[in-house]
Amino acid sequence: WFTSLIPVSYKYQESTLEENFRQQNKSCFILGASGETGKVLVQELLERNIFSKITLIGRRQLTFEGKANEQLVQEVVDFEKLDDYAAAFQGHDVGYCCLGTTKAKSGTEGFIRVDHDYTVKSAELAKAGGCSQFHLQSSRGADKKSSFLYLKVKGQVEAEIEALGFDRYSVYRPGVLLVDRQESRPTEWLARKFLNGFTSVCSTSMAIPIQVVAKAMVSNTVLQPEQKAEILEHKDIMAVGKSAEK
Ligand SMILES: NC(=O)c1ccc[n+]([C@@H]2O[C@H](COP(=O)([O-])OP(=O)(O)OC[C@H]3O[C@@H](n4cnc5c(N)ncnc54)[C@H](OP(=O)(O)O)[C@@H]3O)[C@@H](O)[C@H]2O)c1
Ligand SMILES: *[C@@H]1O[C@H](CO)[C@@H](O)[C@H](O)[C@H]1NC(C)=O
Repeated sequence: WFTSLIPVSYKYQESTLEENFRQQNKSCFILGASGETGKVLVQELLERNIFSKITLIGRRQLTFEGKANEQLVQEVVDFEKLDDYAAAFQGHDVGYCCLGTTKAKSGTEGFIRVDHDYTVKSAELAKAGGCSQFHLQSSRGADKKSSFLYLKVKGQVEAEIEALGFDRYSVYRPGVLLVDRQESRPTEWLARKFLNGFTSVCSTSMAIPIQVVAKAMVSNTVLQPEQKAEILEHKDIMAVGKSAEK
């Protein structure tokens, strides 16, 4: 449960590692691909092209423009009856989970259902279906002993998935997520350009752009660490994600 040492040679090795990984024709699935982080993760995976097959597992069909449409496979499932959809979780090498809701959006029960029940059940089905790597987007402060429901649930989920015994398990604990709408909102984009100094100060210690989280998840996938399970705290995500920025 520890990884704060990011190798200095990381950037240098990255392209070789990515190329080796790419040549293995692996397949992955993403949960939460319609969410803020998931959307960016999908784009990052399409760009870096490290998988031969990318499957999105979600409660509804998503629309993509152009080439992405042909490259992505979609499985629409009923999360209340996931056992009936075990086939959707079969045959993937790597799983990414960016699923989540909030107490404000879904109530306490709804939050536990999505962030705990759906997440753990999906991981179980993936493991049973032969998946060897699992990447979980959790949260800064996740702690199964916390007295805050959100952090407690996040900590419990981390631990329950660890117990499933994936060959490789990575937990990401970002702080506040910064959503960047560069493509669709030119005015916001301009405003951000002017606020750049502010954003970079704030993104180092408290908040993190979702692009950096997505880049870190992809870069970290191709690494071959010695430990089976690892936690990337906010600062580790910054280090790995930033080093992947060109
Ligand atoms: N926001 C933050 O500042 C922050 C900070 C640290 C960690 N996190 C964690 O990071 C993760 C991702 O956050 P995000 O802001 O990128 O997520 P988001 O934009 O809220 O997206 C959530 C995803 O979960 C799916 N989902 C929600 N409720 C569902 C339900 N009842 N059934 C099936 N699918 C459901 C959504 O699908 P639909 O599109 O179909 O609704 C969507 O794909 C979450 O676990 C969150 O707790 C967030
Ligand atoms: C991956 O796919 C390519 C092209 O289809 C093929 O030439 C190669 O042998 C495959 N590699 C593995 C490890 O299966």
